[in-house]
Amino acid sequence: MPMIEKEKIEEIKRSTDIVSLINQFVPLKKVGKNYRALCPFHSEKDASFYVNPDKGIFYCFGCKKGGNAITFLMEYEKLDFPNAVMYLAKQLGIDIDLTKGMKYRELYDVNELAAQYYSLCLGKAVGKRGALYLEERKIDPGKVKDFRLGYAPASGGLTTFMRQKGISTERLQKAGLMSMGRELLRDRLIFPIFNLSGRVIGFGGRGIDDYIKPKYLNSPETPIFKKGEILYGLYQAKTAMRTKDEAILVEGYFDLLSLYQNGIRNVCAPLGTSLTEKQAVLISRTAKKVNILFDGDFSGIKAALRAIGVLINAQIDVFVTSLPEDNDPDTFIHKHGVEKLGQEIASAQDFFQFYKHVSRTETVEQEVTVIKDLIQIINTIHDPIRLDRYMKYASRVFNIPVSALEKEIQPAQQETPKPLDEKITQEQRIIAMMFNAPDLFPVAREIVKPKDFKEGAIRDIYSLLLKTDTFDVDTIKNAQVRQRIYALIMKSEPLDREAFSQALTRFKCGVEENRIRTQIREAQARGDEVARKKYMKKLNDFKQKMLNLPVETVTTESDVAQ
Ligand code: CTP
Ligand code: MN
Repeated sequence: MPMIEKEKIEEIKRSTDIVSLINQFVPLKKVGKNYRALCPFHSEKDASFYVNPDKGIFYCFGCKKGGNAITFLMEYEKLDFPNAVMYLAKQLGIDIDLTKGMKYRELYDVNELAAQYYSLCLGKAVGKRGALYLEERKIDPGKVKDFRLGYAPASGGLTTFMRQKGISTERLQKAGLMSMGRELLRDRLIFPIFNLSGRVIGFGGRGIDDYIKPKYLNSPETPIFKKGEILYGLYQAKTAMRTKDEAILVEGYFDLLSLYQNGIRNVCAPLGTSLTEKQAVLISRTAKKVNILFDGDFSGIKAALRAIGVLINAQIDVFVTSLPEDNDPDTFIHKHGVEKLGQEIASAQDFFQFYKHVSRTETVEQEVTVIKDLIQIINTIHDPIRLDRYMKYASRVFNIPVSALEKEIQPAQQETPKPLDEKITQEQRIIAMMFNAPDLFPVAREIVKPKDFKEGAIRDIYSLLLKTDTFDVDTIKNAQVRQRIYALIMKSEPLDREAFSQALTRFKCGVEENRIRTQIREAQARGDEVARKKYMKKLNDFKQKMLNLPVETVTTESDVAQ
């Protein structure tokens, strides 16, 4: 991941006007100090999505999503963090150096040259092992020219090649092709990975010897190479996918090449991870239908089930081809020939039938689970007509009245905004209060210690605040807590100094009182009457002291906790 300097991010956040940003996507109406709209993240009739320009945040009281300008872009435009920051920077005219001192052009150049080098090696004596391996895997280099396969020699050589082209090892390092002073890919068959314009953006490498670990090694992500945002083979398959309006999705590089050289060209593959939303969207731009052709083993089936949900969500018609258990498409072709595979592909089941098939149930309860799972997948379909069509289909396949199925999905669909809920704890209120008035944080620092917070997530946030002094709600890892904090910030006004320290003191007293009460209980449980009395007295003294103490003078921990 590219590093964007912290100060730049702060500058960008400061300079962004969240109202005009969100207004580009969702029409906002001014209500009091805030702006309001129908929430873009869930369907609703009454507007419960609020934007506060002063605090630079948004929050939906319906679905409880909240965040700042950057998180809004990440959610709404499905950008990752660096790209969301880039987007804002571009709008603001702020220059950022996303590539650690390397321009996009340079990155592309390095990748292109590396592809040339690996491909050169494959054709030479130094690449003999690569060529033999391809032969062993029955790939005909002539038929898969479009993929520009290569070989990275065990002895390296990329560094020397690049030096001759005037590219330093430092540049190679930044492009991800060297790490710890060594070339990343050695004695591996090389699969260049292309973006949609056919430029090389990264590499996959298959170890020639089977004992080499990992079997596949990809070059790391760079600003031009995001594994979740591209599919292997998509560039080469685009045209065929468009013509057939169908994509075949396989798991492996070899599966893909094997199909491709046999004339099945509308194939693409995720890059060794499970299919992402972005990849599904990419596919949907080229083909309306996807035929999942994964390995026949258990993990293949699991991956297929996961992919189904993601694809459906991208409004794609999903079919699945099942292979025998010990086969992947590549081995199937070698065993049974491509015609047979073609037949299997043509007789793929729609995802319902596949689901039903793989989860052959033995008990009624299991069957219920399968149906409910499936209904939840269907429920992610946004398009009402498609949703209706699938519901009717499910009703036929499982022989259940549509009305019963509809009941099952109702809770998820209605999402009636609840009033801000009871689950908000005092600790969350306290921390939100700090976020709301960062300039008063020194007061908090004096009074409250991390151990005063019982809730782990809050304790962590507070410790982080003590250490870093930056008030970024997004550093809160626990999503639920984060959203509650956003809600609280949206709802409340910053306190003045007096109210702030009063609230903290009250909180601290409560903590201390609880501490003493625990000591009393423990003494009681031990049967230690002397200790119990001692703590009872301590409690009374403490209460007395609290009653007498003018709040303003309680500013240090030692005043409160004796
Ligand atoms: N993959 C990866 N990184 C790994 C393992 C797998 O990127 N460590 C990707 C590769 O694209 C690979 C695909 O996942 O082609 C499927 O992995 P797997 O089924 O394990 O490999 P096979 O396709 O069976 O590999 P091979 O035929 O080369 O043995
Ligand atoms: Mn495989």
